[in-house]
Amino acid sequence: MGDFLDKDILLEMKNIHKSFPGVYALNAVDFKLRAGEVHALIGENGAGKSTLIKVLGGIYPADQGEIFINGKKVEIKGVKSAQDNGISIIHQELVLVPHMTVAENIFLGREPGRGKFVDQSKMHDDAQELLDAHGMKIHARTLVGKLTIAQQQMVEIVKAISYRSKILVMDEPTSSLSEKEVRFLFKTMRALAEKGVGIIYISHKMSELEEVCNRVTVMRDGLRNSCFRVKPPMSL
Ligand SMILES: Nc1ncnc2c1ncn2[C@@H]1O[C@H](COP(=O)(O)OP(=O)(O)O)[C@@H](O)[C@H]1O
Ligand SMILES: [Mg+2]
Repeated sequence: MGDFLDKDILLEMKNIHKSFPGVYALNAVDFKLRAGEVHALIGENGAGKSTLIKVLGGIYPADQGEIFINGKKVEIKGVKSAQDNGISIIHQELVLVPHMTVAENIFLGREPGRGKFVDQSKMHDDAQELLDAHGMKIHARTLVGKLTIAQQQMVEIVKAISYRSKILVMDEPTSSLSEKEVRFLFKTMRALAEKGVGIIYISHKMSELEEVCNRVTVMRDGLRNSCFRVKPPMSL
């Protein structure tokens, strides 16, 4: 493209190959994400979008290819390793635990406290602070099962933010949201991008792209077809 400096490249996936029995899901895919941009990844069903993201998130190992974060080569060996590299993925299927509170879900596996004793009040206060700071009108003590899908998605976003992720991926997040919820999600995405987070936004709704995205990559049959700019990132 030549219209951004290399230093802004947060993530580079190079020559990624992945096949499943009988299917060449990714065939030499290159993908670059800049800090502060919302980058749409679009393409028909079966194009390879989710597979590319699963390689990034440590769910599938690539057959071949390299991944660089801030110019440094990284080995993503699994989900935890992706998280340690600042990558958070919000999958299409929600994975929160319904019978646990919002705060318990956000801090699952890294609860504050000593040994077996979780500091419940600190955990809920910290979670509430995070929710409030992002303008989310959700109570930290509510059971996740009582939230709407949109609210659950917001909790996933707050959880991703709490890991201080630099790379946030959303796989078709708006498919079950109302118009108003979509507005709020987009506002949250823009605010994160302004803070320098790079967001990969998977969608097949063309109408959304111009509104929220800086750049679009189109995938087709496991190949990256084209990449074009919609508008410059706000923070650069
Ligand atoms: N776990 C899997 N096992 C076998 N084939 C798969 C698997 N995951 C994806 N595929 C195949 O890889 C191709 C790309 O799929 P996917 O990445 O899910 O596309 P998209 O997200 O763009 O719809 C498709 O042909 C799909 O059937
Ligand atoms: Mg998919």
